[in-house]
Amino acid sequence: MNQIIRENLSISVNTIDLLNDQIKKEAKASAMYLAMASWCDQNGFEHSANFFYEQSSEERDHMIKIFKFIIDNGGIAYSPEVTQINHEFASILDVYKTALHEEINVSKSIQKIFLNCRKENDVASELFLQWFINEQLEEEQKMRHAVKIYELHGEDVENLYAIDKRLATS
Ligand SMILES: [Fe+2]
Ligand SMILES: [Fe+2]
Repeated sequence: MNQIIRENLSISVNTIDLLNDQIKKEAKASAMYLAMASWCDQNGFEHSANFFYEQSSEERDHMIKIFKFIIDNGGIAYSPEVTQINHEFASILDVYKTALHEEINVSKSIQKIFLNCRKENDVASELFLQWFINEQLEEEQKMRHAVKIYELHGEDVENLYAIDKRLATS
């Protein structure tokens, strides 16, 4: 990046690099959720399939939000490459457990960037990331709720589909 531009950025160059890494993570989450939607659809979990289609598009929105933040503040945003998406799941519980694990990792990653902004006095980026911190809490809660319900009531097959329907309205 041109030196004059670098010196005049309101957000730190280090933050831009970290946010570009976060773009990759959001893109990966979006692709993972699309694979989960496909698995749910193939296995008759209609409501969960819709849920994961929606989550996939939300993750893409997150990615674009970060992308634009970088660009609007004079940085360069990179379109991410997404590879190695898993399409195999042992059960619907496995799908939600994997999703919960993914959300927890993303939360940790965002918190790490947030703390780095604080260390570097990058106030603008810190404020920008606050929205993501709250969003992550909500997303973790959704996945945790589904895992809990499937763990408690998912032993028999009939129940699995009833839960799928019930989760759509909870
Ligand atoms: Fe996200
Ligand atoms: Fe998410």
